[in-house]
Amino acid sequence: MDALTAITQRVSVAQLTGPGPTQEQVELLYQAAFRAPDHAWMRPWRYLTVRGQGLVALGEVFAEAGLKKNPDLDDVKIAKLKNMPQRAPLMIVAIVNIQEDNKIPELEQRLAVGAGIQNILTASYSMGLGAIWRTGEMAYDIHVKKSLGLHGNEEILGFIYLGHVNCKLKQPPELMVTDFVQDWPAI
Ligand SMILES: Cc1cc2nc3c(=O)[nH]c(=O)nc-3n(C[C@H](O)[C@H](O)[C@H](O)COP(=O)(O)O)c2cc1C
Repeated sequence: MDALTAITQRVSVAQLTGPGPTQEQVELLYQAAFRAPDHAWMRPWRYLTVRGQGLVALGEVFAEAGLKKNPDLDDVKIAKLKNMPQRAPLMIVAIVNIQEDNKIPELEQRLAVGAGIQNILTASYSMGLGAIWRTGEMAYDIHVKKSLGLHGNEEILGFIYLGHVNCKLKQPPELMVTDFVQDWPAI
């Protein structure tokens, strides 16, 4: 698939199944992430690859986090949290390590990691894999961050679920350039 097709046609895929990406594919996805634009080449990113028993363990962490916030959480909600990471055979946790008081603003450091995540999504699509970028309250939860070994200056910017497509791909709606773009100064 050529790059422009991947960039303009990529869609997120929520229904994913095994097998997960091969090790070779995972490494390619990371090489794609590492080509994100990055002011001053700070490399403000760190990624965790989670699969197999790791997904089960992460589900336990999600359930613990839910129970810490609300000890009365019912069994259905606990089970939902436990199963969350198993919605795909592989997950990438995208982390930004913020360098405070750097001449590069914190926003730009987060944007660089966001661009890396987008590269992972586009590269996945071009390889025929399915992927979706998720966050939700677990991404911002202190127990989850601690359990994943994040340092004080680190934040989870995304859980990227990856696998083989297990549904019909949606057709991205065509957006009109004129709806979002103006000439400046106006003509
Ligand atoms: C920062 C960020 C967080 C997101 N978190 C979630 C999420 O937790 N759950 C979800 O279903 N979609 C989430 N999305 C949206 C999906 O990744 C996806 O972009 C959306 O479903 C639109 O689909 P498309 O990428 O095919 O246009 C998030 C997107 C971004 C950029």
